Amino acid sequence: MDWNKTTRVVVIGAGFVGSSYAFAMLNQGVADEIVLIDLDRERAEGDAMDLNHGLPFTETARIWQGDYADCESADIVVITAGANQEPGETRMDLAGKNAKVFQSIVQQVTDHNFGGLFLVATNPVDVLTYATWKYSGFPSHRVIGSGTILDTARFRYLLGEYFNVDARNVHAHIMGEHGDTELPVWSHADIGGRPVRDYVNDRENADVSDLDDIFVNVRDAAYHVIQRKGATYYGIAMSLVRLTRAMLRDENAVLTISAYLDGEYGEQDIYTGVPAVVNASGVREVIELDLDETEKEQFRASNEVIRTANQTIFP
Ligand code: LAC
Repeated sequence: MDWNKTTRVVVIGAGFVGSSYAFAMLNQGVADEIVLIDLDRERAEGDAMDLNHGLPFTETARIWQGDYADCESADIVVITAGANQEPGETRMDLAGKNAKVFQSIVQQVTDHNFGGLFLVATNPVDVLTYATWKYSGFPSHRVIGSGTILDTARFRYLLGEYFNVDARNVHAHIMGEHGDTELPVWSHADIGGRPVRDYVNDRENADVSDLDDIFVNVRDAAYHVIQRKGATYYGIAMSLVRLTRAMLRDENAVLTISAYLDGEYGEQDIYTGVPAVVNASGVREVIELDLDETEKEQFRASNEVIRTANQTIFP
């Protein structure tokens, strides 16, 4: 890790997610350079100008509207471009149209000798991360999807609210598709080390039946937000910043992301939501939890949904 090297992150897609991500990156002082690329050049330029005006209040950084040539010396290329879910649409409904967009984007990035890490956020993120891996020809560890990092954050937040515990002391994972078939890993969920299934029984004003409601709220959170404000972008942007920091600072942080499985959990040739160690090389390793029988079945079923979508793009 060359701590003196200027770090550069290229964001492809200056829509709500991309611009919120750039805003969060600037305010958290994560990268030295941020480049915004969008088909709507003027919009990207306006975002860069607007963000630059805040620089007197942040760590030193440079941000500009750029183009694919800026990828050559980038550490990370983050792809947020593509169509968003409309009310009533599932993430999987976006697979076909966004895959076409991705083929062109990834080609233009690799045409400029990009040698860093891909971070994919566009939905359906597991399918589009797989597509980025296939189109780029990169080793799988250098292509990461946001996966269920945000679902896991929602899970920890809602459990923390329910038990009145700081979400940072709730350890729990959502795995599988970032979507309707994702699953809660209750067998490995704990509050400060005490299994949630035991902790809930210790509490007078808590009931194990509430746990299912909490998971349903996690799984359907995006729909509830989209219904109210038309899109989600702050939660995913902050999740992407967390992931970016783990990569740029070589943190070896355990995060629940969309990573490639090559035998782990008995799965092959798929990107899906799993806990993984993330550092400057991308995915150092996938962490294999000892899932219970229900979780194994749910994980298998969720991966089947992802695999089916992959096969429509790569028959
Ligand atoms: C959400 C989008 C990022 O879950 O899929 O908010």
